[in-house]
Amino acid sequence: MKLFLDTAEIDEIRAAAGWGVLSGVTTNPTLIARAGQEHEDAIREIAKIVNGPISAETITKTKDEMVAEGRRYAAWHPNVVVKVVCTPDGLGAGKVLAAEGIRINVTLCFTVNQALLAAEIGAYFISPFVGRLDDIGQEGMQVVREIVQAYRAQNIKTQVLAASLRHPVHVTEAALAGADVATIPFKVMEAMFKHPLTDLGIERFLKDYEQARAEREREAKAAAKVR
Ligand code: E4P
Repeated sequence: MKLFLDTAEIDEIRAAAGWGVLSGVTTNPTLIARAGQEHEDAIREIAKIVNGPISAETITKTKDEMVAEGRRYAAWHPNVVVKVVCTPDGLGAGKVLAAEGIRINVTLCFTVNQALLAAEIGAYFISPFVGRLDDIGQEGMQVVREIVQAYRAQNIKTQVLAASLRHPVHVTEAALAGADVATIPFKVMEAMFKHPLTDLGIERFLKDYEQARAEREREAKAAAKVR
């Protein structure tokens, strides 16, 4: 399972890329607005940092508008994946764009049936939203499991991109469910590194090493005195 960052914050993307664990980025209109940048500027900047798929979401409502928008986004950088919503217009636009060789991420997916529709238009990614289902008292990860199962049973190549992941347990569960990608907020990626035994272990290793080095130094000095 590849890890993507779900953000448009350049500093976060730069940091995660520096850690060597970042394979792509997803954005949405909320995240772009929060980052306070123009859409195009943000995507072009991200593309300079990450050599992997970068999802940019359409913000229009009709099929024709979304097609025009998608073509414009795809011209920004070859790594741009155009995000369309899972509606008749969104999928209709996605089908036209996919036929032109533009990669499509179908977003706001909450059911297996929506994922099956996305596969029909040749979507590159399907984005089931785990956290938003959890928010309304439904187990979001179950939808990821079922989409993975249905896609395997039907030999569908669309990649399952687990989205709306809110904490590290979601990431583990997405991997166990067989998701191809997990897109996560920066703070979740940071949290994935953390374990108190790792911190304690580092402290202990460095202390042991330093003690042994100091001991060797003392012995060498004592031996030199005897000579
Ligand atoms: C990513 O593609 C989605 O837009 C994002 O994961 C949604 O996350 P949220 O439900 O936490 O806003």
